[in-house]
Amino acid sequence: MRYSRIAGTGSYLPEKVLTNADLEKLVETSDEWIRARTGIERRHIAAPDETSSALAEHAARRALRAAGMTPADVDFIVVGTTTPDRIFPNTGSLLQQRLGIHGCPAFALETACSGFVYALSMADKFVRLGESRCALVVGVECLSRIVDWTERGTCVLFGDGAGAVVLTPADEPGIIATHLHSDGQYSDLLYFPYGPSQGFDRLRAGETGGIAMRGNDVFKVAVRTLSRLVDETLAKNGIDKHEIDWLVPHQANLRIIQAAAEKLDLPMEKVVVTVQQHGNTSAASIPLAFDTAVRDGRIRRGHLVLMETFGGGFTWGSALVRY
Ligand code: ACO
Repeated sequence: MRYSRIAGTGSYLPEKVLTNADLEKLVETSDEWIRARTGIERRHIAAPDETSSALAEHAARRALRAAGMTPADVDFIVVGTTTPDRIFPNTGSLLQQRLGIHGCPAFALETACSGFVYALSMADKFVRLGESRCALVVGVECLSRIVDWTERGTCVLFGDGAGAVVLTPADEPGIIATHLHSDGQYSDLLYFPYGPSQGFDRLRAGETGGIAMRGNDVFKVAVRTLSRLVDETLAKNGIDKHEIDWLVPHQANLRIIQAAAEKLDLPMEKVVVTVQQHGNTSAASIPLAFDTAVRDGRIRRGHLVLMETFGGGFTWGSALVRY
């Protein structure tokens, strides 16, 4: 049987940093509140001319370099993002254009914070089936564009960034398994209020608004669901929780991450946590954290890594990876 493996990783954060102290000047909040409730200390904000495909290009080029590949080798592109440059062309095609590649399939999928894990799962299947020998998988967001900067309950949480991996064929896994889920019944707990088929009339009429969330409810469902997801991933793959070398969770909130670590009996030193540095970057957060820990030498070849995510939809999923 043929498998896929992660041949290289890359990530990118925009230059501009917005600290909790900066936010204290924008809304009625405090560094203390934000740190205590979320763990976040700062987030990065894309420059006015930087779009999701621009952030994705930086991360993709870095991942390709790390894999010893060039854009000319890429034969499949999938991008997870909730903040595409435009409704169309899709952000995968725009990234393809930026990389100067022609003809290979390129698309974007939109499953909020689960975007990267969904994208990884798609790419894994194409590589396993022999339809791709060099798949570029990206998670990217410019959430600063869809946040209501007057709403303290949400604007302190999010940031911009991109992360990418390159998948190539392998005789051994690699990507051992991915598990994907969704339940649309929770669509009112976390959403963006406008969209193309609902119409932008209220926006045009001057109504403002950004990411809307019932934070407390999201928190509870997230912790419960992630706990079930961990059980499912371990059971379906016959893995004991003590075999996991690293947990790379979606970086939404330090308290949600701690709950997942407890569930696995993992000390926090075995959990990659980057949320302090960039806030919740939705689809970008797992590949950003993964790349950080690969580059600083924590995650090494042969380590068993569990990625897990939960986000708007709700959507959730995991990837069990032998790096
Ligand atoms: N600064 C100061 N006070 C604030 C702020 C702020 N930025 N935001 C809210 N508050 C106030 C509220 O108004 C409320 O005041 P009140 O008691 O006078 O009414 C008080 O703080 C408590 O508010 P809660 O919403 O109950 O605070 P909570 O402890 O639940 O923390 C948070 C809020 C951080 C959003 C938390 O619910 C959470 O992390 N939820 C998970 C949601 C999440 O991570 N969403 C991201 C997308 S989904 C995902 O990625 C998993």
